[in-house]
Amino acid sequence: MLELESVSVDYGAVKAVQSVSLRVEEGEVVALLGPNGAGKTSLISAVMGIVPVSSGTIRFAGQDVTFASPEDKVRKGIGISPEGRRVFSNLTVAENLQLGASAQPDKAVRAEQLAKYLEMFPILKQRYRQKAGTLSGGEQQQLAISRCLMSRPRIVMLDEPSLGLAPVIVEKIFDLIAELKASGLTILLVEQNANEALSIADRAYLLHSGRLRFEGAAQDLFNSDDLMTHYMGVGGAQ
Ligand SMILES: Nc1ncnc2c1ncn2[C@@H]1O[C@H](COP(=O)(O)OP(=O)(O)OP(=O)(O)O)[C@@H](O)[C@H]1O
Ligand SMILES: [Mg+2]
Repeated sequence: MLELESVSVDYGAVKAVQSVSLRVEEGEVVALLGPNGAGKTSLISAVMGIVPVSSGTIRFAGQDVTFASPEDKVRKGIGISPEGRRVFSNLTVAENLQLGASAQPDKAVRAEQLAKYLEMFPILKQRYRQKAGTLSGGEQQQLAISRCLMSRPRIVMLDEPSLGLAPVIVEKIFDLIAELKASGLTILLVEQNANEALSIADRAYLLHSGRLRFEGAAQDLFNSDDLMTHYMGVGGAQ
């Protein structure tokens, strides 16, 4: 579904992503792991068209989308829940969700989507008319994810959905990802919570200093104490 071939992202002299090739098949959950500054956000921002690709090719559903605009990519079915759950704090929960669906021309479909996610995230229903900035961190994360889902993406890229959340909320977010996976959604999951991410993912990539250090079955990375300790600072299966 999504295929990156030798993709590089440069910010002036900073080589954030260096010749990374990666693929996500339909229905897969793929974890993209790596320490701070590894280039994870840069990579998915390039896929979304938020930062320019310096070289390489990005294909989505068989089409070359390397230079497509973010709006075009949303229309094609790529969704992102950005790092730091960037909800619009001064807008209500309802307005944030409506913005997520702004590319969807059919009013009935928009209403159907809204009903679906309000059922999936009951807290958003309770806080519907409240400003997003007044929500707790975990609630804002749920809003960020559902806003992204409102565009009916075929693939979602979640950038550190569990960052900064209390363990009980982290658990809820991972339950939600499992639910999305069960519904057949294709997911590229960026996480520093490596063990949880690997237990839900089918395959995994490990990025360090802009380069891939591992690609393969999530379980194999989970079982590799060397890689996990070296790059992630955590032991895998012990
Ligand atoms: N707009 C920018 N201009 C210059 N350098 C940048 C910019 N954005 C990111 N970088 C640099 O690119 C590298 C990769 O950053 P990136 O945000 O992609 O890493 P990351 O893996 O998402 O890290 P984290 O886990 O901390 O979110 C870092 O060295 C960072 O300082
Ligand atoms: Mg990041």
